[in-house]
Amino acid sequence: MKDNIKRVFLIVLDSFGIGEAPDAALFGDAGSDTLGAVVKSKKFNAPNLTKLGLFAIEGQKEKAPIGAVNNINGAVARLRELSNGKDTTIGHWEMAGIVSEKPLPTYPNGFPSEVIEAFKEATGRGVLCNLPYSGTQVLADYGEEHLRSGDLIVYTSSDSVFQIAAHESLVSPEQLYEYCRMARKILVGDHAVGRVIARPFEGEVGNFVRTSRRHDFSLEPTEDTMLDSLKAEGFDVIGVGKINDIFAGRGLTEYTYSESNADGLLKTSNIAKRDFRGLCFTNLVDFDSKFGHRRDIDGYAAAISEFDEWLGAFLPEMREDDVLIITADHGCDPAYTKTTDHTREYVPMIVAGKRINSVELGTIDGFDTVAATVCALLGSETVYEAPGVAGLICEGKDPTVAELLTLAEKARENAYVPYSHFKVGAALLAKSGNIYLGCNVENASYGGTICAERNAITTAVAAGEREFSAIAICGGINESIDECLPCGICRQFMAEFSPNGDFLIITGNARRPNIYPLSMLLPFAFGGSDIS
Ligand code: THU
Repeated sequence: MKDNIKRVFLIVLDSFGIGEAPDAALFGDAGSDTLGAVVKSKKFNAPNLTKLGLFAIEGQKEKAPIGAVNNINGAVARLRELSNGKDTTIGHWEMAGIVSEKPLPTYPNGFPSEVIEAFKEATGRGVLCNLPYSGTQVLADYGEEHLRSGDLIVYTSSDSVFQIAAHESLVSPEQLYEYCRMARKILVGDHAVGRVIARPFEGEVGNFVRTSRRHDFSLEPTEDTMLDSLKAEGFDVIGVGKINDIFAGRGLTEYTYSESNADGLLKTSNIAKRDFRGLCFTNLVDFDSKFGHRRDIDGYAAAISEFDEWLGAFLPEMREDDVLIITADHGCDPAYTKTTDHTREYVPMIVAGKRINSVELGTIDGFDTVAATVCALLGSETVYEAPGVAGLICEGKDPTVAELLTLAEKARENAYVPYSHFKVGAALLAKSGNIYLGCNVENASYGGTICAERNAITTAVAAGEREFSAIAICGGINESIDECLPCGICRQFMAEFSPNGDFLIITGNARRPNIYPLSMLLPFAFGGSDIS
């Protein structure tokens, strides 16, 4: 099992976005940029993230502190969220393999009567408030009436939550949890909120305080995630922080909550001292809850600096077969004052480890790239539609079809096409395991143009390669990418190095690749044997 990574540490810096996503305006978040805001703070000091390549990620160079970008030490990419949402649950589910077409429902005007009536019927109690509300203000405004009438205080927020507050002297926490379970059963289908939260409180009128017996009842993931499949295959799956809540307890073999970022990191370090095989999945929520939503730029920057310091101690302790992946679930730009909500942003994927090569992978569609990468690194049997990057970044791992296409897409960005505007990229896999990139290079004397495929093949041959396994090709006018099959000359060129036609031609896109053996695209090829 030499080729598999034994332990993956996946750390989510909750809300650490790196700039507005292409669809940010649809979410009311045009121009948001969490990293862009925090780097400007004097409290920002992140030499280790910088060394791993944070500012080498596409679109980040301009934000870099002076002298930061060259000689990176990790593999980095910018990830775009595919799911239609910008909350913690949807973001984590996507990085674990589920793309959600529908956002989790929110209730800016309170819950509809069908939900409230069913809840009253189930609990036998009335309902107060039923609006988005601050958790402390709701007690000040409705606590007394609740004590008098016995009605439950139901409220929500800008998140997808159904919260029930009740005084512990009137409703025991156990009873309140039971009411939450009833609500959880009602809140399904179109009303499947992310969390039902029990909010017990105590104290006298005018002095109500929430107790520590808060409890979350999360929505179960709608499909199996990488956690479920890793667990089923016998890997250890350890959650730190909110992970157990986010996945409603599913797919974990062990979990622990954390009190703060520092506590979550300490727990992660302690887990790293043990022997296990599989995934340690840590969520650091302070970035979001303590600094992002509170629009505290310096606080956010100081928290990144604190994480970076931990990183400086953790990296040298990593074992040969360990990999660290740092990512985020959405943005929450502390400088964005139109709202105090999350912001729809790209997130970083930063991968480090002794067997990880330094490579800048551009922008990849889908946080589920993380799931595909984790599973491939560990040698799991689960295969994702998403293009993982394990084979591109990790020594001893073979690239997958989707990974080659991801590289072809990246190579395509360099196409020189002033005449046709038809950009083509190619990624050629030699039997040695080395990969060679090519793009088309046009010429004012049109016939002088060289195609992407031949560019890749000649580059490889010049490097001493003679035997090849596959080539991924993608092309299209300007930014659009379509299925692009190789031209006749390129097929003939390929045949030169594949006398029996078993060379594979990969087209389409990373999520939906098509694979053709050369013998199918060029049967009865003319070859060396015909002239000898
Ligand atoms: N092209 C390729 O790079 N590969 C192919 O297999 C088909 C064609 C390029 C050549 C030219 O720059 C542009 O696409 C339009 O023909």
